[in-house]
Amino acid sequence: MSNQKASFLVVANRLPVDSVTDADGNRHWRRSPGGLVTALHPVLQAEKGTWVGWAGNAGPAPEAFDLEGVRLHPVSISQAEVQRYYEGFSNASLWPLYHDAVETRTFRRSWWAAYEEVNQRFATIAAEEAAQNAVVWVQDYQLQLVPAMLRQMRPDLRIGFFLHIPFPPVELFMQMPQRVQILKGLLGADLVGFQRPFAAQNFLRLTKHLLGLQPRGHYVAVDDDLADERLVRAESFPISIDTATNESIAAEPEVIKRAEEIRNELGDPRTIILGVDRLDYTKGIELRLKAFRELLEDGELSVPDTVMVQVATPSRERVEHYMKLRNKVELEVGRINGDFGQVGGPAVHYLHQSYDRRELTALYRAADIMAVTPMRDGMNLVAKEYVSSRLDNTGALLLSEFAGAAGELHQAYQVNPHDMAALKQGFLEAMHASDTDKIKRMRAMRRHVRKHDVQRWARRFLSALGVPEQQALSRQCL
Ligand code: ADP
Ligand code: G6P
Repeated sequence: MSNQKASFLVVANRLPVDSVTDADGNRHWRRSPGGLVTALHPVLQAEKGTWVGWAGNAGPAPEAFDLEGVRLHPVSISQAEVQRYYEGFSNASLWPLYHDAVETRTFRRSWWAAYEEVNQRFATIAAEEAAQNAVVWVQDYQLQLVPAMLRQMRPDLRIGFFLHIPFPPVELFMQMPQRVQILKGLLGADLVGFQRPFAAQNFLRLTKHLLGLQPRGHYVAVDDDLADERLVRAESFPISIDTATNESIAAEPEVIKRAEEIRNELGDPRTIILGVDRLDYTKGIELRLKAFRELLEDGELSVPDTVMVQVATPSRERVEHYMKLRNKVELEVGRINGDFGQVGGPAVHYLHQSYDRRELTALYRAADIMAVTPMRDGMNLVAKEYVSSRLDNTGALLLSEFAGAAGELHQAYQVNPHDMAALKQGFLEAMHASDTDKIKRMRAMRRHVRKHDVQRWARRFLSALGVPEQQALSRQCL
């Protein structure tokens, strides 16, 4: 096993599974949270690649192993690094800054040192695991230094980088003390991919503003010690879902039956409003709940005619903003249920849990209105998952203009969630729209997510990286 090298690697902070130890001390693997894993896992399965990432616990990493056709190579992260690199620089500095600073970002020098150190570790492992001329695809904001570190060690590799979250405007990025290092880290890639065209433009503008480079079109030429001049390409590649698999799950008789059961369990209301998010302050859960409460107060909606289900996956629970958000959300849910619930019939069903894909799909099938109202989001795959599960073209998607998905799902009921009156109006519009209108919109959106699925996203990115479509990316033995 030790001398087996990979010709295609994904390097991401998280592996697709987390290591979980139960009460008896036995280790299990559980699917990791978030859209990055949802999108990349089917791609890696098809390509038979190697995935380098963290198994979600502090301390020594488990041995590399194979899971569902993917080689997983865990990276160790110590307790102090979890605090500084993951909870600190990644999720208390970069995450809020890159999401329009909807929460205050904090910068600490000790966090940066850990960020550099952990990035170097990921880069070193990737350099050791990659075959000659391999393709290495680095993912997301936690690993922005990896491309340049990797190129330094292995100039033979083709290196791609994809940012799953928004890339901030120049003025915001400029606040970051380590702005030059981050930019140079990304420029180590041959191709830097973003969710939206604006993000790619922000990046290219910064190369001029901060480094004095001369971007032309999608390209910028860089001089590094390794080559006289190297062209780096920056472009948008909106990510997507494995639509065919989602559709086939949505068509399973047990899932259809479960959707009916859910409706019954909720008291057979006329309208079910659903929210499914990681419990993250970017997702606009509080504003959504507030809009729902005000609509109940205004008498525009009533319980049990309308009920709301809010699934909120636990996320980053030791980061302060997340703890505060949880308290605020739970207080608001309690308040709404106190004022408008009935015995055995709450107005909001709040579920702070992770679900398996079938249960989630049954929820999508049961929901009349899917509320996806983030204040800022790179893409938001939940919106696409909802659309793909509406096999009969019914249902309505209420979608924030500030989700990347709004750039594609034009037929959604789009709203500005920062505008409470507009958000409430959006709910009512989606609720009172005619069946004909809803079906027309849903059909068009379904057509879009069928055509623009995650396999197409990966093909587009890899071909822009110069990987011929037919090239075997599968693992090879040296
Ligand atoms: P993010 O990546 O910021 O979490 P996305 O909407 O892009 O947001 O992706 C979230 C992914 O996590 C989706 O694939 C969704 O199905 C999944 N997910 C969200 N909530 C849950 C949950 N409670 N249980 C299981 N999976 C969930
Ligand atoms: C988003 C990020 C991912 C991250 C995921 C879950 O999708 O873009 O990089 O993995 O959220 O967050 P977590 O901190 O639990 O990995």
